[in-house]
Amino acid sequence: VAAAIVALGSHNKWEVRRAVAGAAACCRHPLFEPALSRLASDQNARVQQAARDASFRRRDWRTAGLLGRQHEARIALLLDDIHSRFGSPGRAAVKRASEEIADTFARELYHEVIKLLTPLLRGCEDLQADIAREAPTHELANHATRIERDASQLKAVLDAMRAYTAVPTLQVSLESLSEAVQQAGRSALAGRELLGATIENQVGPDLMIEMARPRLIQALTNLLCNALEAYDGMPEPKHPIVVEANAGDGYIVLTIRDRGCGMSPAALAEAPTFFVSRKTTGTGFGLPLAMKIVESEHRGMIDIESEEGVGTVVRVRLPRFQRTPNA
Ligand SMILES: Nc1ncnc2c1ncn2[C@@H]1O[C@H](COP(=O)(O)OP(=O)(O)OP(=O)(O)O)[C@@H](O)[C@H]1O
Ligand SMILES: [Mg+2]
Repeated sequence: VAAAIVALGSHNKWEVRRAVAGAAACCRHPLFEPALSRLASDQNARVQQAARDASFRRRDWRTAGLLGRQHEARIALLLDDIHSRFGSPGRAAVKRASEEIADTFARELYHEVIKLLTPLLRGCEDLQADIAREAPTHELANHATRIERDASQLKAVLDAMRAYTAVPTLQVSLESLSEAVQQAGRSALAGRELLGATIENQVGPDLMIEMARPRLIQALTNLLCNALEAYDGMPEPKHPIVVEANAGDGYIVLTIRDRGCGMSPAALAEAPTFFVSRKTTGTGFGLPLAMKIVESEHRGMIDIESEEGVGTVVRVRLPRFQRTPNA
């Protein structure tokens, strides 16, 4: 059905094209994404406006989805109500203000908790050293190890939360995508060599796009870390993770394909939610941060397909030029 509606996006009546944009504001199918970027530069201003409204709405679904499904519907309703009363500039302003408040709150919380946690972690290390000297009971040593492990995990979650809420200055420049992938691959592999998987960068060396380089590399590193970690505990031989890019009209699609553990439909649905992790030392912020960088900072889109026991394909769609970074 989505394909049939999308096909009407090049209809010669503007009312039909506007209706296609309207449908994209109600249906989440990824097929609407390329159609929407075409409609955003339609010759008719009303079609353009409808396409922009639909894109904002789709991006809000993503952001609200990061908080978990029960919050998603509530936030979508609230934003739709504001949209109907104050139009899309009102919606965008409310969103910016609420994100700023949430991020400020998270940053302050980080400072308060880390003040307590840092001496606690140091105390744990001293305690472990003392216990080791005193020929401890097995149980006592276990308790100390568990306290240290949980406190370290709490610190990792807080650090990830701080990275997510940071407000970086975005400096956009024209850069080689292949080189960014190479750099991200090196960072992701560091410390994960034992997982035994390799990364094959097949992105053409001439492909240049505008990007906030360190941020995009961070996003790609997070995605590649997930791909590498998906091979954890899998038997040899391990198929390489393949990264390739296809260029479209004004955008590129970068594909990261792994043949790791994959995800069930339920695991895939909850993967982008904050704090959701299936790993013992995961924070559940890697994917949300990658989405924030691609979708909010680069006006792109991340789409994931996965099959349990088969592998995962992550598609990162990026405009080639960032006329309005941070928009
Ligand atoms: N390529 C992938 N293959 C299989 N599972 C994946 C893949 N990418 C993400 N996931 C699943 O999504 C979950 C959330 O990923 P996310 O990157 O947000 O957190 P994490 O990897 O668990 O922790 P962190 O990124 O802090 O190390 C992962 O725990 C994993 O279950
Ligand atoms: Mg991760």
